[in-house]
Amino acid sequence: MLQYLILELEMVFSWLNLLAKCGFSNITGIDYSPSAIQLSKSVTKKEGLCNIELKVEDFLNLSNKVSGFHICVDKGTFDAISLSPDNSLGKRKQYVKSLSRVLKRKGFFLITSCNWTKEELLNEFSEGFELYEELPTPKFSFGGRSGNSVAVLVLQKIQDFSLDQFS
Ligand SMILES: C[S@@+](CC[C@H](N)C(=O)[O-])C[C@H]1O[C@@H](n2cnc3c(N)ncnc32)[C@H](O)[C@@H]1O
Repeated sequence: MLQYLILELEMVFSWLNLLAKCGFSNITGIDYSPSAIQLSKSVTKKEGLCNIELKVEDFLNLSNKVSGFHICVDKGTFDAISLSPDNSLGKRKQYVKSLSRVLKRKGFFLITSCNWTKEELLNEFSEGFELYEELPTPKFSFGGRSGNSVAVLVLQKIQDFSLDQFS
C-alpha cells in the first residue's frame, strides 16, 4: 500500500484533501505550525476525511516517526524555507536531506513552486533526485520573453543522501 507524505497544509483545497477525497489512504500531513495542523484537522473533520494523519513536525528536524513514504508532496513549504532570511542555503540542503530520509528509494516527490524555475529546482535537488516529469502550468509573456509563473515537477529519488555531499 502506498504511503503519502504531504507538506502542504493550510489550505481548504489542497493535495491532502484531494487525495483523501479520491479514496487514497495512508496519507500523512505535517506542518511545524500547531495552528496549521489545527486548521487542517477542523477542515478534514468537517469534510468527513478520516484517512489522514496530521502531525506537528519540523521538516528540517524530523522525528523518527516520519519515514518510509513512497510519495511526498510539497506546495509552498520549500518556497517558505527558501525565503528564510537566516541561512537559507543550509536550510535548503537540510530539506533535501530530510526528503531523502523520508522517501523510499525510487520514491516520488511532487513539488509546486512559485519561487523557483524548473532549472533552479533541478539544481537544488540534483543530489539524489532526477526529473521524472514536468507538469504543465500557465505561461505568460512579457517584454518579448515567455515563462511560467509556477513550476510543478515530479522528481524521483535515485539514491540515498550521502553526508559527503555536505562537505
Ligand atoms: C507558504 S505556506 C504553504 C501553504 C499551502 N500549502 C499553500 O500552498 O498555500 C508554507 C507552509 O509551510 C510550513 N512550514 C514552513 N517551514 C516548515 C518546516 N520547517 N517544517 C514544516 N512545515 C513548515 C508553514 O507553517 C506553512 O504552513
